[in-house]
Amino acid sequence: MTSGNLSLILGAQWGDEGKGKLVDILSESFDIVARATGGANAGHSVYVNMDGETKKFVFHLIPSGILYEHVICVIGNGVVLHVETMLKELANLEEQNFNISGRVLISDRAALLFDYHKIIDGTQEDRKGDKKVGTTKRGIGPCYADKINRRGLRMCDLLNWDAFVEKYRANLAWHQSVYDFEYDAEAELEIMKSNRDRLLEMMVDGAAYLNGALDEGKKVLLEGANACLLDIDHGTYPYVTSSNPTVGGALTGTGMSAKHLGENIGIVKAYMTRVGAGPFPTELDNELGEQIREAGGEFGSTTGRPRRCGWFDVPLTRYSIMLNGFTNLNLTKLDVLDELDEIQIATSYKLNGEKIDRFPALLEELGQVEIEWETMPGWNQSLKDVTSWDDLPENAKKYVLRLEELLGCPMKYIGVGQRRDQLITRA
Ligand code: GDP
Ligand code: IMO
Ligand code: MG
Repeated sequence: MTSGNLSLILGAQWGDEGKGKLVDILSESFDIVARATGGANAGHSVYVNMDGETKKFVFHLIPSGILYEHVICVIGNGVVLHVETMLKELANLEEQNFNISGRVLISDRAALLFDYHKIIDGTQEDRKGDKKVGTTKRGIGPCYADKINRRGLRMCDLLNWDAFVEKYRANLAWHQSVYDFEYDAEAELEIMKSNRDRLLEMMVDGAAYLNGALDEGKKVLLEGANACLLDIDHGTYPYVTSSNPTVGGALTGTGMSAKHLGENIGIVKAYMTRVGAGPFPTELDNELGEQIREAGGEFGSTTGRPRRCGWFDVPLTRYSIMLNGFTNLNLTKLDVLDELDEIQIATSYKLNGEKIDRFPALLEELGQVEIEWETMPGWNQSLKDVTSWDDLPENAKKYVLRLEELLGCPMKYIGVGQRRDQLITRA
């Protein structure tokens, strides 16, 4: 099961665990990097030393493997694609002299997301009042809803322009009948028309391309977007995104066959964060939470919103490991805990006084869980220059080993900073 050429990198918590950083690092030894789910709600940050300075890239739609010239990037059928956002990302890379020609391919079955989906996203949030999900307002839910309701547009619709325009107008009219908003359809159609040739050049049969490459022995890295606890089926519904960022979505969202599965890496932060509303059992809604937010720079890569912070949640992460079948983990941002005297771990949940080993589906239950805590001593020293496991302070090693024991999954990678070189790989 773990010998295939397809490796996965998936968010194991509530997102922003540091997926982009590992995707960028590992991409060097891959031929193809693919996205399967989500859209521009994702924000994947990569810090690279270039021309004598550290440069920051934030990718929303383009796979984070793009910085290596030999890597082909594929946007899979499961993605909801906002064309202008993608083109801006490409233009930004071109301005910085990256050769991207022929290196970004888009599945012919990928769903197209338009500006009106963003308007509807905002309106739906407003109408929910105090039950807001706290979405990124990137139009994700409304675009997936169109897909599920079988009235959405896909990349392949661009093949026939007249039919495309007809479908576009019908879809917009549908939404305008429900939400009653003004909209400049002609301007958006013009953008699609003027970029049509370029988009058609990028279009491929994604599943055939990826499976063909894997059959030829090429190595493919799947870049998860969003995360397990935001999964529409398995997450903290309704405070979730509208796709399946778990392992099944990686396959469905690209069409890659399960026979190719190899390493499956779960990304876990050394503490927990969440952007947007919804339950968060280990949240530190206090000064300590703010201290961690500042130390970790916990502000959204997509929306700039402050991220809620809390202690590492073992039951939640075990749930994620069960669902995804991770072969190993990347513990990220261990350095953010450098200055804490003590670190807490939520080891288990109790409900009505009884220990439970399931992750509650019902939010009211999740809101009532009592947590059993374990306290670990901090290490009070900077980890940012540590490059090997042996050089980690004893208390940092103890924290990692305790988490590993509680989770029952090996921690192969440990992040100690934002840059490529700030990653410890254990043998
Ligand atoms: P993603 O959405 O999972 O790719 O994560 P984001 O890019 O949204 O947020 C993770 C943030 O943490 C980014 O600013 C990363 O540069 C940063 N980061 C990743 N790994 C580490 C680490 O080990 N240490 C520190 N200090 N920052 C990290
Ligand atoms: P990456 O890939 C963190 C959250 C939003 C909101 C909920 C629904 O960078 O880890 P949506 O716009 O998807 O309808 O919002 O999901 N969310 C994320 N939070 N990181 C992400 O992506 C997220 N993608 C969606 O904040 O709570
Ligand atoms: Mg992010």
